[in-house]
Amino acid sequence: MRIIKAKDYDAASKACANLIFAQVVTKPDSVLGLATGSTPIGTYEHLVRLYEAGDLDFSQVHSVNLDEYKGLDGDNDQSYRYFMNEHLFSKVNINKEWTNVPNGLEPDADKACSDYEAIIASLGGIDLQLLGLGPNGHIGFNEPCDEFVKLTHCVDLTESTIEANSRFFSSKDEVPTKAYTMGIKTIMDAKKIVLIATGRNKAETVKKAFFGPITPNVPASILQLHPDCTVVLDADAASLI
Ligand code: F6R
Repeated sequence: MRIIKAKDYDAASKACANLIFAQVVTKPDSVLGLATGSTPIGTYEHLVRLYEAGDLDFSQVHSVNLDEYKGLDGDNDQSYRYFMNEHLFSKVNINKEWTNVPNGLEPDADKACSDYEAIIASLGGIDLQLLGLGPNGHIGFNEPCDEFVKLTHCVDLTESTIEANSRFFSSKDEVPTKAYTMGIKTIMDAKKIVLIATGRNKAETVKKAFFGPITPNVPASILQLHPDCTVVLDADAASLI
C-alpha cells in the first residue's frame, strides 16, 4: 500500500486526479470504478479541467460506480447516477451508454446485484477503482459487520451512515435506508485501487483502517491486502499516522 500525503484538499484531489489521468493515458479504454460522496468532487473537477485542456480523452472509457440507493431514480437529484452526471459524465466526452451505476429502481435485489456483477464481468473487470472512506470505515456501502460480503449486494444502511448522508437531504427521514453496493471481492478484484480521504474527521478511521488489524468491523482495512492500492490523504486525514 502506498500513501500519498498531500498538503490540503486541493492538492489531494489533484494527486488523485493525476493517478486516474495516468491510468486513462496508458490505457485509453480503461474501465474506471467510480465513487460518489463529497470527497471525490475535487478529483472530478480536476479531471474535467484536464479534459477541457485537451489532455484527457474519455471516449473509450467505460465506468462502473460503486453503489446506488435502492428506490431512487437516476433523475432524483440525490441519486448517485445524478451525482455522476452532474460532476463528471455531463462535463467530459465519456459515452453515457458506457457509464454504469447499480439500478436503484430494480425492486428485485438479487436481480439488481447479479445484473451488476454481470456488467462488470462483461467489461473484463475494473482497471482502477476510486474509493472514498466512510467515517465508520465503510467502502462503497460495505458497512462494519462480522464478515466481509463478497459480491454486489443490498445493504441496510447503518444509523451512522444515514446520519452522515442526511446532510444531502432536506430531512433525515428522506434518506433511503437501503442501497446496492459492490461487495468487498468486487472491489478487491480491481487491478488498481485509489482511495481518497480528507479532513480531520477521517483521521481516526485512516489510522484504524490502514495501520490497525484487518477486520470486517473496519471494512477498508481489507485494502491492506490489495497488491496495488494507493491511499491519498490531506494533512488533516494523515494527522494521526
Ligand atoms: C460513495 C461511497 C461511500 C463514500 C463514503 C465517504 O460512492 O461509496 O463509501 O465514499 O461514504 O463519503 P464522503 O466522501 O462524503 O465523506
